[in-house]
Formats: sequence, C-alpha cells, structure tokens
Amino acid sequence: MNATESFLRRDPGTAAEPLAAPLVALHDVHLRFGDNAVLNGIDVEVRRGEAVTIIGPSGSGKSTILRCITGLLRPQRGKIRVDDTAVETLHSEDELIALRKRVGFVFQQYNLFPHLTVLENLVIAPTRVVGRARAEAEPEAHELLARVRLSGKANAYPGELSGGQQQRVAIARALAMRPELILFDEVTSALDPETVGEVLTVIRELVEDGMTCVLVTHEMRFAAEISDHIYFTEAGRIVEHGPPEQIFGNPVHERTRAFLRRALGAIPRLPAGFDAAFASTPSPLSADGVPQ
Ligand SMILES: Nc1ncnc2c1ncn2[C@@H]1O[C@H](COP(=O)(O)OP(=O)(O)O)[C@@H](O)[C@H]1O
Ligand SMILES: [Mg+2]
Repeated sequence: MNATESFLRRDPGTAAEPLAAPLVALHDVHLRFGDNAVLNGIDVEVRRGEAVTIIGPSGSGKSTILRCITGLLRPQRGKIRVDDTAVETLHSEDELIALRKRVGFVFQQYNLFPHLTVLENLVIAPTRVVGRARAEAEPEAHELLARVRLSGKANAYPGELSGGQQQRVAIARALAMRPELILFDEVTSALDPETVGEVLTVIRELVEDGMTCVLVTHEMRFAAEISDHIYFTEAGRIVEHGPPEQIFGNPVHERTRAFLRRALGAIPRLPAGFDAAFASTPSPLSADGVPQ
C-alpha cells in the first residue's frame, strides 16, 4: 500500500461487510417541486459503519437527497429504504417520528434551543420524545459532551458558545437519540475557519468509531480522508460514484474533474498524491499544490 492508499483507506478490519444489506438504499428516486425536477433518478447505498459523502455543485440536489432519507420530503417516484423501513410509504406522524429517532440529522444551522443550557438541549429529546428517564439521559448527556470535548460547557447557554462549539453540541444532541445513522448537511459551511477543524475532528472520530454517516460537505480533503464512498451529483443525477481514491484520484467524467478543479482550487494543499489526478487537464494548482 503506497502513501496515498494508506492515507485514504480506513482500517479494513472495521470496514463494512461488502455483501451486507445496505442500511440506507435509494433506488431510482425522482422528485420535483412544481416544474423544477430536482432529483432525476437517484441511486445511493450506504452500508452499516460506512461514511458516504455526497459532493456536487450548489442546487444539484444534495440536501434534497438527505431530506428524502428522513422522510421530510416524499419523492414522486422511487424507493427509499432505511433498514427494512420503506420510507416513501410512511404517512402517519407516528411512523415518521419513529424513523427520525433512528436517523440523526445535523444541519448547517445548529438550531439549539437558546433559552436552554447545553445540558438541557441534550436531555430534552431523549426524555420528552423517547420517554427515557432523566436519571439515564443526564449522565449520558455528560458523556456525550465529553466526547465532543465540551465537558465544561454543560451549564452554558448556546449564545455563550462559538459557532464550532454550538455545532458540536448539535452533534451531541443528535447522538443523544442513539441514532443508527447520522446525516450531516454542510455542517461547517457557516463556521469561522478557525472552528471548522474542531467540528471535523468530532465527525472523524464518530466515523472511526463505526457510526454510519452520510455527509454533504465542501471540505474535499476531509471527504477524501474519511469516506468509504463518494457520490458526485449534478442536476439531480449521480454523475459518478466510487471510493475516494477513484473520485479524487482518477475521476472518469469531465464534469467531475471540472467540479473538483474548482473545489480543490479553494484549498491550499491537496492530500499527498492527488495532484497527479489533474495533470492531464489544466489545473488551478501549481506543481506543489498552491493555488495560482
Ligand atoms: N422546498 C423547496 N421548494 C421548492 N424548491 C426547492 C425546495 N428545496 C429545494 N428546492 C430546489 O431544489 C433544488 C436542489 O436543492 P438542494 O437539494 O437544496 O441542492 P443542494 O443541497 O445540492 O445545494 C434547487 O433548485 C432548489 O431551489
Ligand atoms: Mg444543500
């Protein structure tokens, strides 16, 4: 295994069984808002323990895909499975709530309750929605705060925290529901650059611990590092998907290459070995990976 491969590959001992049934599966999903066809036949599979990242231009349907997985949006055509639940057939509020207990969702806007302490933000859903005893929920909330490195902030109010700290509380809040998977939709896009890293570190640790994660992010280096599989979307279609070494190292479609040239041009250094992928096409990066 060369340096690039070892950089990219997660421990094969913890990788999902290749033949295991997917935990999440979208098949031929079509969704339109009025005349606007937003998803035009989406197929995505996520296995237990995998980190799957969706990349693509703004407006290409990435958030819509995540919202379909949680049943927030219903496609006009296609199938969506979360484990053995046929999401597109769920109608009652009870069924949808049952699904959302299993699928955590972290957004760009953290949406914490501003009038509740950090601890209460973590305890409220497990006690009120799931009916867990406070004596159980509170110690677990403290453990989760330690996990996102915010032990000292249990009694703080969200307004007293930085954006990165609030986003880590939002991740802990999602974990407090003990979800089977977590969806992350551009969770670092609204953050000051200096707090992005601390949020990505927390997500990386979740992935390493085996949490199933579906991410939408513009942090390409991070996506390359932590993902088992990358999907590239454009105009509501999956243009190309594969392991990160393929998508970042040897993309097949010119549209994927063009998108990555733009996206990677925004970061100062590519992961080691990735520069070669763009050698055959005009690159916005100089030989040592610095934007020109
Ligand atoms: N609730 C909505 N009503 C109407 N159009 C929407 C709605 N949500 C998203 N769209 C449209 O769907 C398209 C895809 O949006 P989205 O999934 O948010 O893209 P992305 O996350 O890739 O930026 C966009 O053209 C957007 O304007
Ligand atoms: Mg979006």
